Amino acid sequence: MAAERPLDGRVALVAGGSGGIGRALSRRLAAAGAAVAVSYATNAAAAGEVRREIVSTGQRAVALGADLRRADALEALVAGEAGLHGLTHYLARRLAPHGVTVNAIAPALITDTGMLPADRGDLHRLVPVGRLGRPDEVADLALAVITNAYVTNQVLSVDGGTHPR
Ligand SMILES: NC(=O)c1ccc[n+]([C@@H]2O[C@H](COP(=O)([O-])OP(=O)(O)OC[C@H]3O[C@@H](n4cnc5c(N)ncnc54)[C@H](OP(=O)(O)O)[C@@H]3O)[C@@H](O)[C@H]2O)c1
Repeated sequence: MAAERPLDGRVALVAGGSGGIGRALSRRLAAAGAAVAVSYATNAAAAGEVRREIVSTGQRAVALGADLRRADALEALVAGEAGLHGLTHYLARRLAPHGVTVNAIAPALITDTGMLPADRGDLHRLVPVGRLGRPDEVADLALAVITNAYVTNQVLSVDGGTHPR
């Protein structure tokens, strides 16, 4: 039972929980036992739908509106992908002795998200595996990382082999 619900008693905050990847991650975390705070910037309806879906499974969830652009100091630190990766490494080294893991996931060309144009055209041709990725594939990796205390200080790609590291 514990292995099936490894996050029982834990609380997860999913920034961007109203979006494509955040929605999939919110569902995955709730299924693993976490109470989930589904954060959104503008789309309260989408966040509310995710909250209702989770609550209907018997799990706890709230929808929280928060415009993270207003966290000016944080934005200055993490502006750009390289900054976010640097922040991941900085925090991971400092928090590891306290039992806190810090990792980043770098997705690319994931369907059912606001990041991709409605007309995908030949985008899949850019991906070595020959197709676009799915939000649940990002969520699966995130859950594996979150529940593994020996994985920290990593930037992990979910991109069908587009960007070798
Ligand atoms: N999909 C891809 O192929 C891809 C590629 C590279 C990186 N990513 C990254 O993956 C993450 C998830 O994006 P997604 O693909 O799921 O895209 P998405 O469907 O467009 O979702 C974006 C999410 O971010 C929230 N958001 C936007 N601006 C915000 C702000 N100022 N404060 C707080 N929340 C804000 C949105 O909230 P509202 O809905 O309320 O506006 C939404 O929940 C993003 O960091 C994105 O950069 C995705």
